[in-house]
Amino acid sequence: MSLSPSNQRAHWGSRIGFILAATGSAVGLGNLWKFPYITWHNNGGAFVLVYLIAVLIIGWPIMMAEILIGRHTQASAVPAFEKLGGKWWSLVGWLGVATGWVILGYYAVIAGWTISSFISCIQWSFTEYQEPAPGAFGEFLSNGPLQLLLSTLFLGATMLIVWRGINKGIERATKVLMPILLAIIGYLVISVLFLPSIGRTFEFLFTPNFAAFPASGVLEAVGHAFFTLSLGMGAMLTYGSYMSRKESIAKSAAMVVLLDSVIALCACIIMFTIIFAAPDVEKTVSGSTIGMLFITVPRLLYTEIPLGSFIAPIFYILVAFAALSSTISLLEVLVALLIDKLKLARAKATLIAGGAVFLISFCCAFSLGGLSFLSDFTFFGEGKEGILSTLDHLAANWMLPVGGLFITLFVGWVLDRKISDAEVGMRNADGSPTIMYNIFRFCLRFTAPVAILAVIIAVIWGKDFS
Ligand code: TRP
Repeated sequence: MSLSPSNQRAHWGSRIGFILAATGSAVGLGNLWKFPYITWHNNGGAFVLVYLIAVLIIGWPIMMAEILIGRHTQASAVPAFEKLGGKWWSLVGWLGVATGWVILGYYAVIAGWTISSFISCIQWSFTEYQEPAPGAFGEFLSNGPLQLLLSTLFLGATMLIVWRGINKGIERATKVLMPILLAIIGYLVISVLFLPSIGRTFEFLFTPNFAAFPASGVLEAVGHAFFTLSLGMGAMLTYGSYMSRKESIAKSAAMVVLLDSVIALCACIIMFTIIFAAPDVEKTVSGSTIGMLFITVPRLLYTEIPLGSFIAPIFYILVAFAALSSTISLLEVLVALLIDKLKLARAKATLIAGGAVFLISFCCAFSLGGLSFLSDFTFFGEGKEGILSTLDHLAANWMLPVGGLFITLFVGWVLDRKISDAEVGMRNADGSPTIMYNIFRFCLRFTAPVAILAVIIAVIWGKDFS
C-alpha cells in the first residue's frame, strides 16, 4: 500500500486504480437501468445528443472540480470544504454525506433485484423459461422480508469491500470487476450486432430528430448527467483525495466521463436491439421504469435471442457488478467522513456507516408492501408514493443538483484560482493556460451553474426527472 508521508493517507496504487474505481462508481444502475429507459421515452437521437453535450460541458468540469478539491486537501468532503471555505461551506460536505446515505439506502434495494433476476435466469437457463405470471414482479416487490434480505446481502458485500480499505478493498475489487464488466458488455454488444434489428437501433440512437424531442428532455439530460457520473455529493471528491499528485486530473476525469458514456450507449444498443427484435415492440416494452430491465429484457432474451439462455445470467451478473462498484463509492463517502472526522478505525467506521444505511434500506424494503405507513408515505404527490420513490425523488432531483451547484460555485468563484491552476495544470510551454483549461474555467463558472439552476427551477415548477 502506498502511503503519503505527510498524513499517512492511502493512495491508489496506480493511475489506472483511480480510473477504474471512479468508472466503477459512475457505471451503475444509472447506466444500465435508467439511461436506456429515459432515452426510450425521449425518443432516442436528439436526447442522446443533448445528454452527451451535457456530460461534456457540465459533467466533465464538475468532475474535475470535485477531484481537485479532494486531491488538494487530501480529505473527504466535510473536512475538505472546512479547510478551504470554512464552517459554512462545510455544509456542502454535510449535504453530500446525507445525500450518499439516502441514495445508498434505496440503491441497495434496487441492486437486490439484480440478485433475484440472476437467480431466476440461472433456473430458467438450466431448466426451461417460464413466463412469469402477470403481476409476479409486483408481488416480488411487495415482499418486504425478501426485499430486506436481498438488499442486506448487497449491503453486506459492499461493506466487506470497503472494510478492506482503499488498496486491498476498493482498488482490488474494481480491478477485477471492471474488466469483467467491460468484457461482458463487449460480448453482449457483439452478439446483438448480428441481429437484424441492429439497424433500427442505430437509427433510433444516432439520428437526432428534434421534432420528436420533448423540451423537458434537456433538463432530464442534465439531471441524469449528475446521477450517472456520481457527481454532486462528494463521491468523486473522496476518490480524488486518494489520487497522487502525479496524475493529470483533466485526463483522468475525461477518461471516466468517456467510459461512462460509452457504457451507457452500449447498454442502449444491447437493450434496444433485443427489444426491436420482438415482433410487437410497442406492446413489448413495459410502461414502468422497472419494466424494461427486469421484465422485458429477460423475457426477450429467452424467447427471441439466439443463445439468449446463455447470455441472460451473464447479463444480470453484469448489472449486479456494476451496481456493486457504485455502492462501494457511496459507502466510502460515509466511511471516509467517520475516519477523517471522528478518527475511527476503518472497521468500526464501516460498521457504523453500514448500520446507518441499513435503517434506510429497511424502510425502502418495506416501501412497496408489508408496512402500510411506509408504502403509503407520500410527500411529492402522485406517482411518488412509498418511501423508496420519495427518497429517490428527493436525492436525484433536489440534493444532487443543489450539491453540484454549490460545488461549481465554490471552485469557480470562491476558491483561490491559484489552487485550481496548480492542481489542474494544463499549461502551455510558456506557462499560459491551454485553451482546454480556459474552456474548463468558463464551463465551471458560467455554463454549469446556469444549467443546474435551470434544472432546479424546473423541479420547483413541478417537473420530475426521476
Ligand atoms: N453513478 C451511479 C450510477 O450511475 C450511482 C452512484 C454512485 C451515484 N455513486 C453516486 C450517484 C454518487 C450520485 C452520487 O448508477
